[in-house]
Parts: sequence; C-alpha cells; structure tokens
Amino acid sequence: MKKLLKTFALAALMLAAPAMMQAANKPGTFTTGNKTFLLNGEPFIVKAAEVHYPRIPRPYWEHRIQMCKALGMNAVCIYIFWNIHEQQEGRFDFTGNNDVAEFCRLAQKNGLYVIVRPGPYVCAEWEMGGLPWWLLKKKDIKLRERDPYFMERVKIFEEKVGEQLKPLTIQNGGPIIMIQVENEYGSYGEDKPYVSEIRDCLRKIYEPTPNPSQREGRSDTFSAKKQGLQSNQSPLPLGGDGGGLLLFQCDWSSNFEKNGLDDLTWTMNFGTGANIDDQFRRLGQLRPDAPKMCSEFWSGWFDKWGARHETRPAKDMVDGMDEMLSKGISFSLYMTHGGTSFGHWAGANSPGFAPDVTSYDYDAPINEYGQATPKFWELRTMMQKYSEKKLPAVPKAPMPIITVPKFELTEFAPLLSAMTKPVNGSLKTFEEMDMGWGTMMYSTRLPEITSQSVLTGEFHDFAQVFIDRKYIGKIDRVKNEKSLTIPAVKKGAELIIVVEGMGRINFGRAIKDFKGIVGNVTLTTETDDVEMVLTPKNWTNVAIPDDYETAVKALDMVKGVNDRVASGEVKGSVPGLALTQGYEGSKKLADIMKPGYHRGYFTLKKVGDTFLNFETWGKGQVYVNGHAMGRIWSIGPQQTLYVPGCWLKKGKNEIIVLDIVGPREAVVWGQTEPELNKLQLEKSNKHNNIGDKPDLNSATPVATGAFKAGNGWQTINFGKTAKGRYLAIECLSTQKDGDRVAIAELYLQGADGKRISREPWKTKYANSEDEGGNHLGDKVFDLQESTYWQTEKGASAPHLLVIDLGSEQNVKAIEYLPRAEQGAPGSVKNFKVYLY
Ligand code: GLA
Ligand code: CA
Repeated sequence: MKKLLKTFALAALMLAAPAMMQAANKPGTFTTGNKTFLLNGEPFIVKAAEVHYPRIPRPYWEHRIQMCKALGMNAVCIYIFWNIHEQQEGRFDFTGNNDVAEFCRLAQKNGLYVIVRPGPYVCAEWEMGGLPWWLLKKKDIKLRERDPYFMERVKIFEEKVGEQLKPLTIQNGGPIIMIQVENEYGSYGEDKPYVSEIRDCLRKIYEPTPNPSQREGRSDTFSAKKQGLQSNQSPLPLGGDGGGLLLFQCDWSSNFEKNGLDDLTWTMNFGTGANIDDQFRRLGQLRPDAPKMCSEFWSGWFDKWGARHETRPAKDMVDGMDEMLSKGISFSLYMTHGGTSFGHWAGANSPGFAPDVTSYDYDAPINEYGQATPKFWELRTMMQKYSEKKLPAVPKAPMPIITVPKFELTEFAPLLSAMTKPVNGSLKTFEEMDMGWGTMMYSTRLPEITSQSVLTGEFHDFAQVFIDRKYIGKIDRVKNEKSLTIPAVKKGAELIIVVEGMGRINFGRAIKDFKGIVGNVTLTTETDDVEMVLTPKNWTNVAIPDDYETAVKALDMVKGVNDRVASGEVKGSVPGLALTQGYEGSKKLADIMKPGYHRGYFTLKKVGDTFLNFETWGKGQVYVNGHAMGRIWSIGPQQTLYVPGCWLKKGKNEIIVLDIVGPREAVVWGQTEPELNKLQLEKSNKHNNIGDKPDLNSATPVATGAFKAGNGWQTINFGKTAKGRYLAIECLSTQKDGDRVAIAELYLQGADGKRISREPWKTKYANSEDEGGNHLGDKVFDLQESTYWQTEKGASAPHLLVIDLGSEQNVKAIEYLPRAEQGAPGSVKNFKVYLY
C-alpha cells in the first residue's frame, strides 16, 4: 500500500511538472543578422506580448499566456520588478506569485519565447520604477548612477535573478532570447559609464559557461567548428553582444543616441498612432543593417487618479502593427495584457505628483481580467495574415464572473489603534522609521496662537490636519498643495497630521521620493504686517504600516467597538485614539469614527472573478482574504477593484478596508463589470478660470513666427534672453486647416542653452482643453512624447496656453514637439510666444 502511494505521489509530481521538464530543450541561438534577428540562424520577427507576472495572480498565468498565443504572438516580454523580489534588503523571494522562472517555463511550455527586462530600473508605472524603497535609507544615494552602494545592491540583485533565469536562456535550452539593459535611460540622463556597468553586470551573469567538448558535436551556430575555429580555440560569443545572449537597450527615437552603446542592439519605444518610418529613421541612418524593433508599442496608456480613463483606438493600434509586420519590423506590444497593480505597487508620475490607479488595464487587447476585448479580435484577425498556421483557439476563462450582493462592513477600528511604538524628537520620514508603505501620524503641542496661521510643509502624499482631534482640512500633493490655514489655538493644543504615502514616483529625476513629512513644518502668522514663523521641534512620530497583519491587529484590539458603532448606542466615550473627520455637527459616534479599519464578510455559493465597488468610500487600501487588492480613492476614475476568483472561497470571505478619510457609507458590492471611468471631483480639471487669463493685448511677444510642418522637435531662438515667470504660447493657426491644436511637449532653454527644469511647472490657463480625452495643458510637460495638449472640437483660434514656471526664469529659446502620429495632426503653424 505504502509503495502504491509513493508511486501515485511520483505520478502526480510528474503531472505537475511538465513545464519544468519542457525547459530542458535543445540549446539554440538568437542573434542579429543583416536587417533581421536570427533564431538558430534563421530570420525571425519578434512578435512579443508584454505582460507582468506580478500583475496576474499565479493561478491565471497560463491562461494569460495562452491568450497571448491566441493573438499570434511568438514571445512574451517581462519586466523584473526588483522591489517585489527584495522587499527587505538581502531577503529575496522568487516563490509563489514571484516565481519568475516558472512563468518563463510556462511560456516555453506554450511555445513562446521570453524577453527579459531586469532593470534594475524598469518604470512600468510601478512603485519607484521597480527600485526598492529601502535604498532611500541611504539619504544621499544616487539612483541609477554609479553610486557605490546602489551598484553593489544592483549586482547582488541581478545575480539572484540570474540564478533563476540563466538556466532558462536559449543557449541553455530555455525560452529566453533577449535581455534588456536598464530602461529608457535617455529620458533620465546621459551616462554611458553607468549604462555600460549595467551591461557588464548582466553580461557576466548570462554569459554562457561553455563546455567545449559538447560544443564540438553540436550542429548549431554555437559550435567552434561552425565558426571555423580550431578545437582548442574557444568559439566567439554569439548574439552580437559579446555574451552569447542578445543584450539590447530601449529608448525613444529622439534620445537613444545619448546612451546608446556600440555593442548593444538598439530598439525604439513609441505608441499607437506613431509615424513608424519616422521613428526608425535615425536608427536606419546610424545602423543601416541592424534589425528594427519597437520594444514597446503602446496599445493604450495608464490611468492616474483624478483624470479620465485612457484609451487608444483599436484601428490605429492594429494598423501600426500591420505596418511594422509588413516591413519586417519586430515589436513588443506594451501592454498586451496589463493586469492589476495589487496592493501598494502602483507608482506615480511626475513632474508634479500624479499617482497611478490600481488597475493597469491599459486599454490593452486583453483586459485587466484576462478577457478578449474588441481590440483583441481586430488584432487577432490582422495577426492571422502573418501566420502560416491557423492561430490557436482563444482559451476559456479560468473562472466565471460573479456578482456579490451589497453588504455592510460593520466592524470598525480607528486608524490609530494600529500604532507602532512612537518615536519622539524631530519629524521623521517613512524611510527613517524603517517603513516602506503606509501612513504616519505626527503630533505636537502648540503654543498659543491668537490668530489664524498658515501651516506649511512638504507632505508626501496626502495629509489630513487635526487640532485637538478635530478635522481641519487636507493638504493634497496631487493638487500641488503645501499649506493649509488653521484657526487660532490655545496653549497646549494638540496638532496631529496624518500623512498617507501613495506610490513612489516611477519616472524622471523625481524617483527619489521620500514619504511622510519631508523637512520642517512651519506655522506662519501675520499681525500688523509682522510675519512670525513658528517651527515646532518636538514631535511624536507614529508609523502605521500598510499590511494585512496591522489591520487585523487593529481590529482585534477594539473588538466589540464595531457593534456599538453600528447600533449607534455608544455616546460620548470615543476611544482616546479616534480622530474626527469633518462631522463636528454630528453627535453620533457612528459618524465621527470613520477614518480607520472597516471589516465585513460576504458568503459565496460559487467562486468567480468580481469587481468590488468602493464608490462610497474615501481613500485607502483593501484586503480580501488577506490578499492586498489595491488602493481606492473616491475621486476616481477607478471605482471598483478587480478581485480574482482564485483568491475567493466558497462560504465566508473576509474584507478589510483601511479608509484614512472615512466612507460615506460602509457598503460594498460585487458587480460584473469594472468601473474605470467615473470621476467624483470637487471641481473640473480644466484650467479655464478667466481670472488667470493674461491680457496680452499690450504685451510684446518674445517670438513670432511659423513652425515647420511634420514630426519631430523644433527649436525657436528668441535672439535674446527674455525674462519672466509665465510662458504664454498663442497658437494662431494649424498646419492643416480645421485641425484642433495639439502640442506633445515644450521645453524652454535657459541663458546657457540648457533645458530648464520643468519640475515646478503648472498649467495656469488654457482657453481650450479636451478633458474627455485627457488632453489637458500639463501634457506638454509630462515628459511623455506620446501625450499631448489638445483643444476641444470646434474651439476657435487663437488658442492660448499659459504655463507658470514656478519662478522668474531667463529664457533664450523654446523647443516644441508636435504629436508623434503621421503628419503630426494638430501641429501649430503661426504662433506667438510671450514671457511675462
Ligand atoms: C515607458 C516605460 C514603460 C512604461 C511606459 C508607459 O515606455 O519604458 O515602463 O512606463 O513608458 O506606460
Ligand atoms: Ca506630453
């Protein structure tokens, strides 16, 4: 009997391991040839699907891979997010949902190659662009530079990834054909020595460890014989990149030369609608014989809190891919399936602070929850043309979609019940408190302040201010707020500032994004024209980490309170730790205890995927059965969270909502469709306040003229240095009559001819902005060449855009980039530029 059991166990193991066994394929090669990639010596066009394994629950990995396969893709392209694998310095995790090697094996099992992009920096709208927050514990660290500590940690991490993935390179019989060096470094800086060091690090890790005797007998291009060498000579490295495995760099056509290394393959990133010949023109001039590849062809775009859901037309996407395939151009479709930035993993963009929503649907052909969209079907039809075989059938979804009837979350624990040990002294950041993600409470006692005062500081990212536990107001980094007026206070009044950290900035120089209160907090009063500045020094710092364990601890500590809150019976005995949130008028405890942890349960007869609706809630985090589901925020556009059925169970399921603001109603329900485009804003995002409109009638422009037609950057020199805090660009006409005006990016050059920092820029005024399409004024300085300011349909010229540069600047020239699409739609012809 025992023996029988053993045999069974072995059989089960073998059944469970086909993906693993598959990896032991025949070794092969992937190199560059004349104008093409070569797979085992044969011309090969890469049709890759970008997917991110941490954004897909592991039980669904294979389904999503098969969906990509059904689109006619021959590869998947993945990022490795350093910070999800090394959440604490020196502790690595490649298990469960982090088992990247298994993901690669599943791809191979399904006949797909793999492109790996191991960073160390990756972006992907992911917390800190994939870098671990704990790097910031070294305050003066230089990220993405040759900072000794940064480089030391990079190398350790990359070696750990190598332990997982090196056995899976094509040279070792695995599916991995290409490895990317860094990510779009051109939009960060110019530093070939740094990029070279990352290249060398990866090359060392992935270079083949050949066994010459084995090579002799092999018939592929790896063999010494085939390379015409003597048997005692070692064969030349393959891949054209020195290490056997093909290493490449990706950047934009406008900046790839800055950091392009001679011995790496160069690929371009651009999005739906872009003029493809134009995107490859410069590469073609520099390397006429190199293969062409769009390493990120953006199918859609990411969403940020407070702005509309982004979409891109299916036809434009499919046409672009069709054109590339017809010209033999390889691509990776970013994203083919975006998935979800679960937990606290969504990042934020800059300039300014624009945190990304939880959903990474991306308007991709395979939607957030793994289903085929109309875009999918259009793409599949086109891809079929380039496949000799009939594309495989579209796999059945692993789970049905279910609804969950509305239920109430009745248990409650105030936010501050989950406090950790307070640290007294100066103000501390999250990083100084050794906390990666969560909320911090800062408190101090104030002296008497007899008049109103203005509280000012750098709050990262969402601060709520309380005096004597009563809510005064918020300071929201998304809105660029840094101060709040507070009323007169008595001596000894308690000032509490609760600061929630959102995702760390993932793009641009601002990725060094400390959380909490950064620097000092001041209170400024003005009496009889005398300004007094008070800088409180004695603070109590309390960390409230964002994790399931902390939430459960808080709820367990105040067991029983929830029932009394729900019944409204308890009067006047608010537990000492509660804060009130704008409910001064109410006597009911139920109304004044809402910022905190709310727990409820729902029962399921059958499990399935669902979309839990949080539109009655404030702002925070959700945990379902212990899984961190992601951030919620009433402002939208995302109002539901995708809850995969594989994390639900038959019977009782638990949900905890950490709401740092407090809900209107503590209810949740599950619906069959996501809500990704419902804004609940206090006011519109448009910059059309007439009071902000400058009177340009009597002003003299610093430049007047006409831009040239066509794609690409243009610089207009003023012929002198002009001074001003505000830039106004008046667009008098477009290149094509009847077009709506569109501008993708603008830079100003300082007196030294260098681009001035756009970090403090804000849109002051625009007489027309297409808000529905997310084409607001700030798109001209969002660092993204594929996004643009666009005027509304039917709006008449002249079109005016005014930018506040933050402070007075000396300016010599303006750089202008029209839309990247063929013919540069909406490009400006006659213009006037003012500085005032
Ligand atoms: C760039 C980055 C990606 C992603 C896209 C936008 O191309 O390389 O990681 O951030 O932009 O979605
Ligand atoms: Ca832009």
